[in-house]
Parts: sequence; structure tokens; C-alpha cells
Amino acid sequence: MKISVLTIFPEMFRGFEEEPVIRRAILKGAVQIEYIDVRPFAGGSFRHIDDSTFGGGAGMVLRCAPVLKALETVRESGSFTAALTPAGEKYDQLMARELAQKEHLILLCGHYEGFDQRILSRADREISIGDYILTGGELAARVVMDSIIRLLEGSLRAESTAEESFENGLLEYPQYTRPADYCGEKVPEVLLSGDHEKVRKWRLKQSLALTLKRRPDLLEKRILTEEERELLSELIEEQQMISQTEQEQQILSETEKEEKPL
Ligand SMILES: C[S@@+](CC[C@H](N)C(=O)[O-])C[C@H]1O[C@@H](n2cnc3c(N)ncnc32)[C@H](O)[C@@H]1O
Repeated sequence: MKISVLTIFPEMFRGFEEEPVIRRAILKGAVQIEYIDVRPFAGGSFRHIDDSTFGGGAGMVLRCAPVLKALETVRESGSFTAALTPAGEKYDQLMARELAQKEHLILLCGHYEGFDQRILSRADREISIGDYILTGGELAARVVMDSIIRLLEGSLRAESTAEESFENGLLEYPQYTRPADYCGEKVPEVLLSGDHEKVRKWRLKQSLALTLKRRPDLLEKRILTEEERELLSELIEEQQMISQTEQEQQILSETEKEEKPL
């Protein structure tokens, strides 16, 4: 796969390729990355890359000509162009998998108040990495590249990514390493048991519990297996028992307070 990043701040990608997984992917030929500095495409002695917006308003937008000229130097027939913008489709693991299939991905990084709309209309997709505003698209492009590259053959072992959060529609279960007892905080007994089936079931239940607590929206989208349905009912029952006990304790302590002589 080839990734071309169009940016006016190529220096913001310094160090990206030093990270071991990314470096391995590059060395194994799984990915080739190029950074295109858009500024020289602006021409003129001042190389104005941005201009004020028609209709008035604060801030400057990236001009069409330099960005589109830069784009034309890298775009080929099989290229897929994605512009990083907060108004884009929300990025997720599914989109990462989809983009990882592309032969040539071009990432357009915006800056200042963003792009002239005519740049965006030439992109195949607009991507947002979340509901917040960054100063520029460079960090967003790093996020997108990182999440894609680790999925490419040659970057990581397939098992390393298969069980990660979002991969199977659930958040990942908690993980522990040595020591088994850290300052009195012990690793759950089942993980030391050597019983693979028990470990698998415990992990699945933990994944379901965490997803239920933090991302119930993921469960709504998921087609649950019989086992998952059973574990979820167990979890919901356990939760109901906990909240019932908490309520009883609260009533008890309030009664005790009321009964105490003044
Ligand atoms: C300050 S932002 C522009 C925000 C724009 N005026 C708006 O309100 O949508 C400058 C650039 O940062 C990038 N950017 C900022 N937030 C982003 C996000 N959540 N996802 C992807 N790119 C983002 C985009 O490339 C954008 O053009």
C-alpha cells in the first residue's frame, strides 16, 4: 500500500516512522509513505497557501490551486483521496479496515479554518477522527495512518489485532502481566488456572460487561451468540442484585441516622 500525505506542515510527521510497528511495515514493504509539501505549489514569491473567506468571517481557508495542483501530481487511476475534516464521517475500526484495502491512499490535511469547498468536492471521502477541533489535519492523518498500517500484513501478527477492542464489536477484556500480586492487588484467579475454556469464558464475560457499561451502543448493533446472550443476562442480573443491595444499605444507614438520639 502507498500513502501520500498532502500537508503544509510535513515536519509534523517527524518521528512517525520510528515507531517499531510502522518501521517494520515499511521495512517489509507493506507500506510506502510520502509527504508532499503543498506550500511550493502556491507559486508567487509569497507562496500564499490560504486566503480570507468569501462572505466574511474570521480565519483563512486553504486555497484550491496549490492543494489541487499538489493532488494532481500524486493522484493515479487507482488512488483514493480522503480529506481530514471535523465535518467528515466519524472514523472507526471498520473504516480503518476498509481503507487498509486501498492500493493508494491520499490524505489531505487541512489547516486554519479548513479547505475551500472545491477541494473537498474532489475527495472520495471526508473523515473526522472525533467530535473535537484540532489545529490541523496532520494529527488526524497520523491517527488514520497508524490505525491502518498496523492492520497490513507484515506489521503485526493477525492474532494481535483480532481480539482488540472494536474488532469483534466488543471492548477488550482486562489484561494482566507479572507479578500476579502487585501491592496486594491480585490478578483474577481464573487467569492463573491454566484452564483455557474458563479463561475464554471469563474474557468474553468481561468484554461484555465493559461494553455494557461504557458502550451499550456497540451491543445494540451486535448479533449476539447464544452464549453471549446468556452471559449478558447473568451480568444484568448481577447488576440488579448489586443495585438492590446498595439501595438496602442506604435505607439501613438512613434509618440508623434517624433512630440515633439527638
Ligand atoms: C481548525 S480545523 C478547521 C475547523 C473548521 N473550521 C470547522 O469548524 O469544521 C483545521 C483543520 O484541522 C483538521 N481537523 C480538525 N479537527 C479534525 C477532526 N476532528 N478530524 C479530522 N480533521 C480535523 C482538518 O483538516 C481541518 O481542516
